[in-house]
Amino acid sequence: MKDINIPHHIGIILDGNGRWAKERGLGRSLGHKEGLKTLEELIPYIYKQGVSIISIYVFSTENFKRPKPEVDYLMSLFSNNFKHLEELCQENHIKILFSGRKEHLSNSVMAMEESLMENTKNNTRGILNICLNYGGLSEMVDMVKKVVKENVDLNTLNEQTIYQYLYQPLPPLDLLIRTGGEKRISNFMLCSLAYAELYFTDVYFPDFKPEEFQKALDSYQKRDRRFGGVKDETKSH
Ligand code: IPE
Ligand code: IPE
Ligand code: MG
Repeated sequence: MKDINIPHHIGIILDGNGRWAKERGLGRSLGHKEGLKTLEELIPYIYKQGVSIISIYVFSTENFKRPKPEVDYLMSLFSNNFKHLEELCQENHIKILFSGRKEHLSNSVMAMEESLMENTKNNTRGILNICLNYGGLSEMVDMVKKVVKENVDLNTLNEQTIYQYLYQPLPPLDLLIRTGGEKRISNFMLCSLAYAELYFTDVYFPDFKPEEFQKALDSYQKRDRRFGGVKDETKSH
């Protein structure tokens, strides 16, 4: 049975791969590799808790500022190793989507995105939205361009319908988790975060195992989401 207090849509800013590796005297690449292993362990677990949609931030539009060898490594990690993620999603009947711009992506990354989306398109138990070459501000710019290009009737635009024009027509986030100790949003899902509960942890992403996720969920379940209203309408005067 679904617990009503389980967040429907969770966002994860997976951060701290580089520092995890540095603390161990390893190169940043090994931190990214270990982060991917953690992700593969975490994803099936999160859906088993009753969550329907996970949006994961794996590469921001700004991450292209990193040294080319790191960017190249990350891109090859995505294009060569996301196949296992697809298998996990197939087993759990999860549909994979990608959010972000196509510009600056190599043909192999674009082909990987197409193939994962195509192969999982009929899965209906949940959604994994992979934010790759994603930026919240770019998403807003692209949203405005889409609305203009499609000649959308401006009278139909409101705070609910606007979500249809984002990269993916997903509902807003209920819970955002950021690992790695920084307390910032770093241009992630600016519109969808409007009323999300925020959970920050110092744990570096490679160490963010199911028991750490459970702490985030426990914290969420103690929150009082008011959406600008009052706690219990029947008790207010
Ligand atoms: C997150 O880890 C992964 C990506 C941004 C791709 P980082 O690479 O940002 O790790 P830190 O923050 O430098 O430790
Ligand atoms: C945010 O992490 C982007 C991703 C996790 C993909 P960063 O490490 O790039 O963020 P900043 O630079 O600390 O803000
Ligand atoms: Mg970082």
